[in-house]
Amino acid sequence: MSSKLSTFICQNCGSETSQYFGKCLNCNSWNSIVEEIKSKSSKHQEIKNNKKSIPFNEISSKEISRFTSGFREFDRVLGGGIVPGSVVLLGGEPGIGKSTIVLQSAGKISLNKKVLYITAEESLEQVKIRWERLNQNSIDLKIFAETNLSLIINEIKRVNPCFAIIDSIQAIHNHEMQSSPGSVSQVRACSSELQTLAKDNNIALLIIGHVTKDGALAGPKTLEHLVDTVINFEGDNISSHRLLRSIKNRFGSTFEIGIFEMLEEGLQEIKNPSSIFTNKENISGVTTTITNEGTRPLAVDIQALVNKTFYSNPRRTTTGISINRLHQILAVIEKHVGIKLSEFDCYIATGGGFEINDPSSDLGVAISILSSLKNIPPLASTSFIGELGLSGQVRKSNNLRTKIEEAVRLGIKNIVVPKLEEELNNNFQNLINIKEISNIKEAVNYSLSK
Ligand code: TYD
Ligand code: MG
Repeated sequence: MSSKLSTFICQNCGSETSQYFGKCLNCNSWNSIVEEIKSKSSKHQEIKNNKKSIPFNEISSKEISRFTSGFREFDRVLGGGIVPGSVVLLGGEPGIGKSTIVLQSAGKISLNKKVLYITAEESLEQVKIRWERLNQNSIDLKIFAETNLSLIINEIKRVNPCFAIIDSIQAIHNHEMQSSPGSVSQVRACSSELQTLAKDNNIALLIIGHVTKDGALAGPKTLEHLVDTVINFEGDNISSHRLLRSIKNRFGSTFEIGIFEMLEEGLQEIKNPSSIFTNKENISGVTTTITNEGTRPLAVDIQALVNKTFYSNPRRTTTGISINRLHQILAVIEKHVGIKLSEFDCYIATGGGFEINDPSSDLGVAISILSSLKNIPPLASTSFIGELGLSGQVRKSNNLRTKIEEAVRLGIKNIVVPKLEEELNNNFQNLINIKEISNIKEAVNYSLSK
């Protein structure tokens, strides 16, 4: 027996109503509501009843046995490898290289484990053409080109792989629902069925999802709470660098990043990422900071250009740091260094446009601005670390030890940091010259005097 159900779903935020509105009552977007009819069959799923609760003390706490994705950088973002039975969502803009990285990874994993790659967007021949460019080996890798969810689930059950890939969630559909593939309800329904399948059969599942123009994972956010791990694949059209960034991870730390380069023969890991975001030139307006992304320290250049303005409101633009942070840093400089910046335009860009979220980059930004303004190069071979407080003091930075270690590894000679605990300073004697400062003025006197 089946009955028809009709609901109205906003394609932007996923909220449901029982009638049509021109404007979504939840997110206020116009014309985003679509009627979706699903036939609900009463014998949809048999309820399995073979599970029992077990005493907590009897659960062994041994490490989850992860397996490698074949890329060290990918493993790092996943928190140390792929967890059997976990569901990973890999998001990114079309054309960024999602299919490429998963196909490479599928090949590598298939050397030891059974892998099933489900392509809903491309034909088998198209996948084969890509595979030939990648110049790789595979052993137990099967490919299945299908868009129908039921057939996909049957095939996953039949093959019973260790690792399965769905490329992409927006291209598959559940035929019991009448909405088109890619709509919120389709994406949501397909993902939850796949997730149940993965958990029940202990299959690690990687789902690819496209990102909409405004940067949200399509099927807006509805997927993120369903899956264990959400990873974004980022990059721009100009450079060949690509970044994997974990946004949510039940099995590891978030904001971990992995860095790749897209080459003719596919994606290649970058083993020494600090080298691609720094230039090691000593020119005015450029400093180096060491930021923390996840558990990894990374050296990144900060460039500033400060010019007399021709506008009534000076221009301020940033690439890689937030504009509000820049406004705050400019205000701190005005007040505590005593330099009037309202007559100057100020442009900030990080090396390679790398997005820095670590507030300890403030000091580097401030010194770059003053260096450009005064046209004096900062002290040679120096890194700057420290968050600027509103009263001009330089505040403590997290993970300072790993940041100093990275500076030592890169052969940087001086590092300007907030006041240290004694013990930390002793550890680096003879390796790097550590200058401890307590406020912005001290930092300026130390690094910008000719
Ligand atoms: P693709 O993996 O198809 O992107 P997505 O699945 O995220 O939509 O990547 C497509 C781009 O990658 C395309 O512009 C060509 C480029 N590319 C290379 O530069 N080298 C390669 O070896 C491959 C396979 C693709
Ligand atoms: Mg693709």
